[in-house]
Amino acid sequence: MKKGLFITFEGADGCGKTTQLKLLAQYLENQGRDIVITREPGGKGLGEKVREILLNYDGPVSDRCESFLFLADRAQNIDIIVNPAVAEGKIVLCDRHIDSTVAYQGYGRGLDIERIKMLNSIATNGRKPDLTIVFDVDLETSQKRVGDNKDRMESAGCEFHNRVRFGYLDIAKEEPERIKVVNAAQSIEAVFDDVKKIIEKYL
Ligand code: TYD
Repeated sequence: MKKGLFITFEGADGCGKTTQLKLLAQYLENQGRDIVITREPGGKGLGEKVREILLNYDGPVSDRCESFLFLADRAQNIDIIVNPAVAEGKIVLCDRHIDSTVAYQGYGRGLDIERIKMLNSIATNGRKPDLTIVFDVDLETSQKRVGDNKDRMESAGCEFHNRVRFGYLDIAKEEPERIKVVNAAQSIEAVFDDVKKIIEKYL
């Protein structure tokens, strides 16, 4: 049986990671690998309901409540989707995971970063991704990609999103073995070439 892998895709809104995730899924499937795609918030089932609250609830949401909802969804995703698939030798591609909470709720909303990391480790039972790719893009390009139809998180403002972006770059410096940064302001093809180079080392 091939070795399972857990790979996460991270970056600010509009960085293009979801497009790259789909390209990579196709590429790996063509090589005969079993792929499972999931996302946070909202892999499937209960996760989708949590996602609906997080992105569309229009009443006041406390920053800690927001964090706990992301964490609850994470625990569900890890236990129900990620771990069983990796154990079966599959490659799990996950759109956002632990680093989103550090970047958005920590750097973005200003909650205590060490505490978030501790809560992340409770939500995941200490399991970290084998590889994380951060898609880094300047604010102007990402805002253009997001467009005018913004959800609750995307409406948080330019300063917030700049903190998120630089938060990701800080996180990547702390864990260079796990986290690789790709310049996502390039064309889709050029970004994907970079992704393939990174992935080859893990296959
Ligand atoms: P989504 O539509 O999935 O955005 P994207 O396509 O950019 O991934 O919405 C997820 C939003 O939730 C996004 O704005 C980032 C935010 N988020 C957090 O703030 N904290 C988290 O822990 C996670 C997983 C996501």
